[in-house]
Amino acid sequence: MDKIVIEGGERLEGVVHVSGAKNATLPVMAATLLAPGVYQLTNAPSLVDVRTMGKMLGVLGAEVEHHDHSITINTANCCTHEAPYELVKQMRASIFVLGPLLARHGKARVSLPGGCAWGPRPVDFHIRAMQDLGARVELEHGYIVAECDRLRGNTVHFDTPSVGATENTMMAASVADGTTIIENAAREPEIGAVGDFLRSMGAVIEGDGTDRITIHGVDELHAADAAIIPDRIEAGTFMVAAAITGGDVLLTGVRKEHCSAVIMKLKETGAVITEEELGLRVQGPVWAQAVNVTTAPYPGFPTDMQAQFMALMSVADGSSVITDTIYADRFAHVPELNRLGANINVDRNVAVVTGVKSLSGAKVMATDLRASAALILAGLVAEGWTKVSRVYHIDRGYESIEKKLAALGAKIERVRE
Ligand code: EPZ
Repeated sequence: MDKIVIEGGERLEGVVHVSGAKNATLPVMAATLLAPGVYQLTNAPSLVDVRTMGKMLGVLGAEVEHHDHSITINTANCCTHEAPYELVKQMRASIFVLGPLLARHGKARVSLPGGCAWGPRPVDFHIRAMQDLGARVELEHGYIVAECDRLRGNTVHFDTPSVGATENTMMAASVADGTTIIENAAREPEIGAVGDFLRSMGAVIEGDGTDRITIHGVDELHAADAAIIPDRIEAGTFMVAAAITGGDVLLTGVRKEHCSAVIMKLKETGAVITEEELGLRVQGPVWAQAVNVTTAPYPGFPTDMQAQFMALMSVADGSSVITDTIYADRFAHVPELNRLGANINVDRNVAVVTGVKSLSGAKVMATDLRASAALILAGLVAEGWTKVSRVYHIDRGYESIEKKLAALGAKIERVRE
């Protein structure tokens, strides 16, 4: 397994290009199952999770070719409807094939994803939505077994906004018989990306990006192409990298309007963030001010930025309270940050971070995707060497993060063990 080794103390300066969004690419890839044909996705990030979804489509009969930052997908011969445990256990987002398989084949057998590094992540919203659309769903031997001659439009209400369940429902409802209303829908930019892609395939959808989405089912869809939107979480991660090192970094390819909550919070810490012709410029403060953060569904502060922001707060001036209202147990990064000298105490879904003047490099272990990013960010400012093991976690969601950071002046390299 690879390690990432960092010698802290370098101020980051320069230009970094933000890659396409992992969390838009995955549902868009699943949506290609809805209609036979050849699809071309551009600005797609080169990530482990994207290749895993490609393997999943392959198992379902598609031909998938990855070339640099584009993906060609041919779903003309998709004939199977089973998403096997061996692949689903690698990536929870495999659940996105449930709606498209039901819509395309009238049946689906999708392994339950199980938990993830920081705890249980249920799929009950997905299952109930498919039942609302008329599917018969059973759980058998760890699999979701669903069937339905033709999905029919209905009102689908989510107790709390769910990104994946909203996307799954949009995909299934796009070819259902009748109209579907999704109430309390998630509003993330990735929802709009899925809506745009489905419309380009012939779907009739309005309201995506709001909490009420209307889908008028059509008889059939057709293949289309898509340019993937920028990754707002990668962008936020690099903004924190600039802030934590007191650096001066220009992010290109980013959509400022997708990052408002993170930008606002970073400005509260004293970072100067300005829009320039080529992108977003982030100038870090000499010493970040401690600020409180509570995660929330978009447009609130994203849970996917909680760990990264905690790294910044661990060396801030003062104490901050970080509350995660989306995942109560997404704090696996805390013990590892404390190994670097941070002073963080967690009680249920609340972390109290008492800023310290400096961190000291150490061996730490990545536990999940965003925790890995937090440890690397902390390593950028920790005195001496920080060695982050199990970096396969970070490769799931960041494209060559060590190369991008090295190009900004960080002393960082990947070491093959
Ligand atoms: C998406 O996951 C993202 N993944 C996650 O990003 C992100 O953390 C999450 O949304 C929240 O923003 C992708 O888009 C591929 P949810 P998803 O359904 O769809 C509960 C990353 O780091 N819930 O919006 O699985 C759930 O437990 C990843 O890139 C149910 O109870 O998240 C959570 O508390 C990690 N039942 C809340 O809803 C369900 O059936 C929101 O989850 C589904 C969700």
